Amino acid sequence: MRMKAVVVHKYGKPEVLSYEDIENPEPKTTESLVKTESTGVNYIDIYHRTGYYPNQLPFIPGMEAAGVVEKSTEFKEGERVAYAMILGSYAEYVAVPSWKLVKIPDDIDSQTAAAIMLQGMTAHYLTHDTYPLKEGDTILVHAAAGGVGRLLVQIAKLLGATVFGTVSTEEKSRIAKDAGADHVIIYTKSDFEEDVMKLTNNRGVDVVFDSIGRTTFEKSLNCLKTLGYMVLFGQSSGPVTNFDLDILSKKGLFITRPSLHHHASSREEILKRANKLFQWIASGEIKIRIHKTFPLEKASEAHELLESRQTSGKLLLIP
Ligand SMILES: NC(=O)c1ccc[n+]([C@@H]2O[C@H](COP(=O)([O-])OP(=O)(O)OC[C@H]3O[C@@H](n4cnc5c(N)ncnc54)[C@H](OP(=O)(O)O)[C@@H]3O)[C@@H](O)[C@H]2O)c1
Repeated sequence: MRMKAVVVHKYGKPEVLSYEDIENPEPKTTESLVKTESTGVNYIDIYHRTGYYPNQLPFIPGMEAAGVVEKSTEFKEGERVAYAMILGSYAEYVAVPSWKLVKIPDDIDSQTAAAIMLQGMTAHYLTHDTYPLKEGDTILVHAAAGGVGRLLVQIAKLLGATVFGTVSTEEKSRIAKDAGADHVIIYTKSDFEEDVMKLTNNRGVDVVFDSIGRTTFEKSLNCLKTLGYMVLFGQSSGPVTNFDLDILSKKGLFITRPSLHHHASSREEILKRANKLFQWIASGEIKIRIHKTFPLEKASEAHELLESRQTSGKLLLIP
């Protein structure tokens, strides 16, 4: 059997995402064959495509999807499932380790399930494990209208935090406010460090969730209160390099660079996070925003859009 998939033969710009006809994967006994219904596009797919996170070439990119079980020893044929953190989801069929699959509840459609797995589990571990948020905490979330950012804002509000969000445009500001952010700063127009310090009466925030990296990192540290907590979890603007640890001593700051990889490493952990997210979606406490869907063959257009900073919410590829 043959299928359509997006293949990367060499690292580079979005054009290297090549739509091809290839052999179907043959699942091992510990794997299930899943027919993809919706694939999520994530920033990590760009790091894979450019080689910033290298893989053995050629490879099929994509780290999450929702679909239907075709063949499995653990799941029934036809069961609806979703997964994240498995490379190769930009394809019609994927062989997924069965322990990584989560059953999708009947009231959640496959686009929503694909949209929540990677970014949602990330927002969940960041707010529950990396820095367990509690009532009254003040936090700064960059790219607050983005995929992870919008979810972080919503979960932080559920946990009782006061949320400062940064975004690049007025439209994104409205989206971040709709998600529940208490104060939104347009960091392309004003100095977010000055604004945060003014809004907190020069105290600073308890924690910064920074996924932007190079262009925000230093000012993010300056926004923290004494003994504040810096969570650097991405590098959408480029990596942070040559960091002098002595800078932390001025306020006794804590810093961490976590990854979902270490927070979705057992079946129990995946089920706990994914089922909580499904529950929040079903109850309406969390709202998913799908920015745009593309046919799988247009993966390069989806990457261009994500990199051009024009998205707010999720991008999906539909085979
Ligand atoms: N560590 C983990 O476990 C983990 C897991 C998932 C994702 N992440 C990270 O979280 C970040 C967000 O991922 P996502 O998929 O949800 O993407 P996203 O936030 O929806 O998209 C990236 C956003 O970053 C902002 N940005 C600021 N400077 C940028 C620049 N120079 N180039 C591009 N974007 C820029 C833009 O928002 P504005 O226009 O509002 O500035 C843009 O929309 C990524 O850095 C990703 O690596 C980390």
